Amino acid sequence: MIHARVIKVKNPEEMGKVAADLFETLIQTKPACVLGLATGSSPLPLYRELVERCKAGKIDFSRVRSANLDEYKGLSGDHPQSYRYFMQENLFNHVNIKPENTIVPNGQTEDVEAMCQAYEKQIEEWGGVDLQLLGIGHDGHIGFNEPTDHFPAMTHEVELEEITRQANKRFFNSIDEVPTAAYTMGIGTVMAARKVVLVATGADKKEILYKTLCGPVTPQVPASILQFHPDVTIICDEAAYPL
Ligand code: GLP
Repeated sequence: MIHARVIKVKNPEEMGKVAADLFETLIQTKPACVLGLATGSSPLPLYRELVERCKAGKIDFSRVRSANLDEYKGLSGDHPQSYRYFMQENLFNHVNIKPENTIVPNGQTEDVEAMCQAYEKQIEEWGGVDLQLLGIGHDGHIGFNEPTDHFPAMTHEVELEEITRQANKRFFNSIDEVPTAAYTMGIGTVMAARKVVLVATGADKKEILYKTLCGPVTPQVPASILQFHPDVTIICDEAAYPL
C-alpha cells in the first residue's frame, strides 16, 4: 500500500485549487523551479487556476522552467491536437513563462534517439524536475508509459494501446486520426522528480486509482511504481476516491 498523501476534494474545481496551492508554494520558494507538466482533461482546472493566480500577481512564472511528459508522434506543435498546442492554449499563452523555458518532446523529430537523449539532458541541465504533475490513463499509464513487461527508464517512443487511443479519440475527428505512437518521458524520468502530484477526477478513474495505490507494483499498471516514490500527493474528487 502506498504511503502517498491522498487528498479527497469535492469536485474538479477544488482539485484545481488544491493542486495550484502546491505549485504556488513551490514557485514562491524556488522561483526558478522546474515543473513537469501533463496534458489531458484532468489538469485543466489546475491550469485555469494557475492562469488566474498569475494574472492576479500571485504567481510569477518568469523564471520557471517546464518539461512536458509527452507528445504524439507525427504531430507538429501547431496541430490543434498536439500536446504542445494544448499547453500553449491552456497555460503558456496566458502566463509569463518564457517560451524558451518550456519544452515538449518534438513529435516530428527525424532522429528519435537524439531527440529523446537531448530531452533528458535538458531536464538534467536545469537541475531535475522539482514537481511532476501527472494524470492517469484508464490502464494505469502515466505520461504515455503504457502497460508492458518493464518500467522504461528514459524518454522514448511508445506504441499506444487501443484503450488509450479510444479514450483520446474524443479530441480528434475520428479514431483513424489518433496517432498510434507517441514520445514520452520514461518511468525513470518521472520517478526522478523530487515531488509528484497526481490528479484524477471522475468515477471512471476510481478502479485504476485503487490498483495504483493498493495493488502490486507492476509494469502492467505503470502508475503503481509511485508506491516507491517518497513524495507523492494524489488529489482526487469524491467520484474517483478509491479508499
Ligand atoms: C493522455 C495523456 C496522459 C493523461 C491521460 C489521461 O493519455 N498522455 O498524460 O494522464 O491522457 O487523460 P485525462 O485526464 O483526460 O483522463
